[in-house]
Amino acid sequence: MTIDSLFAPLDLGRVTIRNRVAMAPMTRQRSTLDGVPTDLNVEYYRQRAGLGLIVTEGVYPCDMGNGYLFTPGLHTPAQVAGWRRVAEAVHGEGGAIFAQVMHVGRLSDPLMLNGRQPVSASAVRPDPLARHYTVTCPRPKRPYPEPRAMSHAEVLETIDAYKACAQAALDAGLDGVEIHAASGYLPMQFLSTNTNLRTDAWGGSVEKRAAFLLACVDAMAEVAGPKFVAVKLSPGWSFHNVFDDDPVATYSHVVRQLSARGIAYLQLGDYAVGWDVYGTLRPLFDGPAMVVAGFTRASGAAAIAAGTADIVAYGQACIANPDLAARYRAGQPLNRPEIATYYTQGEEGYTDYPVYADVTDEATLQDVDAAPTPLDPKVTG
Ligand SMILES: Cc1cc2nc3c(=O)[nH]c(=O)nc-3n(C[C@H](O)[C@H](O)[C@H](O)COP(=O)(O)O)c2cc1C
Repeated sequence: MTIDSLFAPLDLGRVTIRNRVAMAPMTRQRSTLDGVPTDLNVEYYRQRAGLGLIVTEGVYPCDMGNGYLFTPGLHTPAQVAGWRRVAEAVHGEGGAIFAQVMHVGRLSDPLMLNGRQPVSASAVRPDPLARHYTVTCPRPKRPYPEPRAMSHAEVLETIDAYKACAQAALDAGLDGVEIHAASGYLPMQFLSTNTNLRTDAWGGSVEKRAAFLLACVDAMAEVAGPKFVAVKLSPGWSFHNVFDDDPVATYSHVVRQLSARGIAYLQLGDYAVGWDVYGTLRPLFDGPAMVVAGFTRASGAAAIAAGTADIVAYGQACIANPDLAARYRAGQPLNRPEIATYYTQGEEGYTDYPVYADVTDEATLQDVDAAPTPLDPKVTG
């Protein structure tokens, strides 16, 4: 198997990326409590700038979208200034970076929202047993509260917040924004039939359930064009207790609509949902497709060679290997990710993974084509 397909440059939105090895968006909870990126965050992303594209951890576009302590936002002047430093560091190394915009909706908690009740498409409480926080997460484990259904005016305000976030990303010098419409967060709460019971313009038919996501895309595209905007979907995935009566119909509609809008790229996750996500949806999208979840160097290269994908996003391998693209190219063995430090604080498990030249004990490494760490639903978001 040739791995060359991973190393061809690609025009993506407003930038040209130098390889097809992308960093999947990953929440790391190491910013300030006000959601401002720190020096440590700048260093973490700078270290990973050799990847063709970095998609940042989820960032909240407004305070109601915040669900986790120490995650960064992208709407206050201080947050914009912090992200500008990240963007400059990544660009200084020749890299490209999109911010993932994540509104958690019903997955927040009054403790995160100054006592306010979380909002969602409808007042449907997540299964308290679905809560996934671990002892390593600084947020206490609590049962999910019941969310409040957003009013029509609040839906419009939230779309405005997504638009303002795109402007903030542009002001920060980032290369684009990726709407997190996967993993059971707010846009997926509108898309899914169990969490969207609305009977107004934002719920009911497939078209109405998709209206919130598409309105966010359109609003963000007004800032700097559709090539500044990308979307992540996890079709049919029930993570965080969302279910769809007919995911093939829902996501076929969504992907066709995104295709017509000419966005920068579509990130599709196949989280073993029992139907062929890529085979069904890739042909409906006329633009760059990024695939994610469980890829190795070899399977990623094969996906590109087969036309399933144009870019492959790697999650946990990018946590553990700041120089992942270089290791893939050279066939060098990989550092193993430490799950216990995914959501802790400080440098440990964050900026202290060595590049290959600095590895002191080869015995700690795994083969470059080793199967990736299984995704643990208790720790990922
Ligand atoms: C620590 C951690 C945090 C994550 N946070 C996010 C997130 O903020 N947004 C998102 O879309 N996916 C998130 N994910 C999912 C990853 O983007 C990716 O889909 C997943 O890790 C599977 O890819 P992999 O098998 O290459 O690790 C997270 C995963 C991990 C391991």
